[in-house]
Amino acid sequence: PDLERWVDEIPRPGVIEPSGTKDGQPHYEVEMAEIEQKLHRDLPPTTLWGYGGQFPGPTIEAEQGEPIYVRWQNHLPDEHLLPEDPTIHGDIIPYDEPGARVVPHLHGGNVEHESDGKPQAWFTRNFERTGPDFEKKDYYYANDQPPATLWYHDHSLGITRLNVYAGLAGFYLIRNDHERELDLPTGDNEIPLVLQDRSFNEDGSLYYPTDVPATEEDENDSHLDPSIVPQFYGDTSTVNGKAWPRLSVDPEQYRFRLLNGANSRYYNLKLLEYDDESGDTGEAGPPFVQIGNDGGLLSKPVETADRLELGSSQRADVVVDFSEYAGETLLLHNNAPAKYRGTSGIGPEDSEPLPEVMLIDVAAAESEQEPTQLPDELTQVPEIPIESVDTERFLTLARQTDEYDRPLYALGTRNEKIGYELTDPVTETPTLGDTEIWSLANFTGMSHPIHLHLVHFQVLGRQSAADYDPAEDDIDLDALDAPESYELGWNDVVTVDPGNVVHVIAHFGEFKGLFSDQTGDYMWHCHMIEHEDHDMMRPFKVRSPDD
Ligand code: C2O
Ligand code: CU
Repeated sequence: PDLERWVDEIPRPGVIEPSGTKDGQPHYEVEMAEIEQKLHRDLPPTTLWGYGGQFPGPTIEAEQGEPIYVRWQNHLPDEHLLPEDPTIHGDIIPYDEPGARVVPHLHGGNVEHESDGKPQAWFTRNFERTGPDFEKKDYYYANDQPPATLWYHDHSLGITRLNVYAGLAGFYLIRNDHERELDLPTGDNEIPLVLQDRSFNEDGSLYYPTDVPATEEDENDSHLDPSIVPQFYGDTSTVNGKAWPRLSVDPEQYRFRLLNGANSRYYNLKLLEYDDESGDTGEAGPPFVQIGNDGGLLSKPVETADRLELGSSQRADVVVDFSEYAGETLLLHNNAPAKYRGTSGIGPEDSEPLPEVMLIDVAAAESEQEPTQLPDELTQVPEIPIESVDTERFLTLARQTDEYDRPLYALGTRNEKIGYELTDPVTETPTLGDTEIWSLANFTGMSHPIHLHLVHFQVLGRQSAADYDPAEDDIDLDALDAPESYELGWNDVVTVDPGNVVHVIAHFGEFKGLFSDQTGDYMWHCHMIEHEDHDMMRPFKVRSPDD
């Protein structure tokens, strides 16, 4: 349907309260159920899968150092809202048994492995059936990490793309006193915004493709239907669950917690002046002043040089000052096409772009609020010293084909363009307390946002994959392209552009009082969820030193 743009105001997801206590800690119950919700003025209500009766799910507000328990309750119907593809991990997923398989994962959480929401820890309605990695009903989140914008979403093996697309995602914010003392915009002036692309049928239902037309690039001739698609790009922008929405602000400072919650799409964002009558864009609007990203606050605020890039699941915590834009309208503009290839080598512009994300109306009235100076220092981000590195790993991203001739993206560990699948034995096995460099080399034709569970890493820089041979070369920090402003600080996702190698450094364990010691099995994967499901995900295991 051709929906009229900018007719609905952006809602703010509600905040959920604990329903009791467990072992003296707050205990939350979050229900997953099928819901109906209006996503646009002119669309009939859309059937979705939501947490806590809403899409996006309710925000969980946590305090650093105060653990919580969450019981995720599966009250979803037996039948999936969207067609599953039983060829995806068909040997280990019981597609023919009833019950919607779900498992919530706290993305960016420094979480014990039993509560990490592993893909095979799925459970059906009322825990009737559970996957082989299922361990407990009440997940424990220690919140033993710096204040940050985290999010929770489904992670069920082989159907994560469908469960997240159906609506299973929400914000999880960690705060502390130090952050409150910084006097960042708060209350009505602090807004979490999840950007997602969707497509709709005329009756308001979600459209998700179930077969893959053969194209030159993805020569797909499987004739399977339903089949997983190599990537998904929707034709409609949604923010906080509203299609083509607008946001009313006062001419003041705002803190936006931006999250790319899309399945595959990259966003490369900038604010532009906008003429609401003609739909024309003008000059650049106010800049994003970035104060944080995936893992928390940056050491100091940085103005984004040009555009702010967000791959699927990445977060940017930004302050925008609208005080000079009273009475104006601004467009949140995205220039990343589908099959994004990085800011330097952007792919064909006409490749399913989604340039218009949302409108911002700045009220004409004078503000009573005095503009405040952001502090020069936000927090200490201690550098992980490169001298302390115990292990360097060279990890490859490669394109292969599956047994139906469909593209299959895989992660590998050797200096060969060959990947492993999820079920191959674990090859990344840091010992607790180790520091490692992971060098991620992309031999495919598009950018991939690579995510590690459990740890936050620092980006050392990137270079052409042709210039780095792990067998011969040491990593020359001075010769690397420096991380972008939005890659400073603690990250749990990094974009690897085609033909590039990105070097990141991680410490597996407590580091200078930040994060906590965890051992066990975790995942790392591409966060384009179609890739993650098929089969761009691998385990890693943090071994205990006494093993
Ligand atoms: Cu956001 Cu393993 O996921
Ligand atoms: Cu990918």
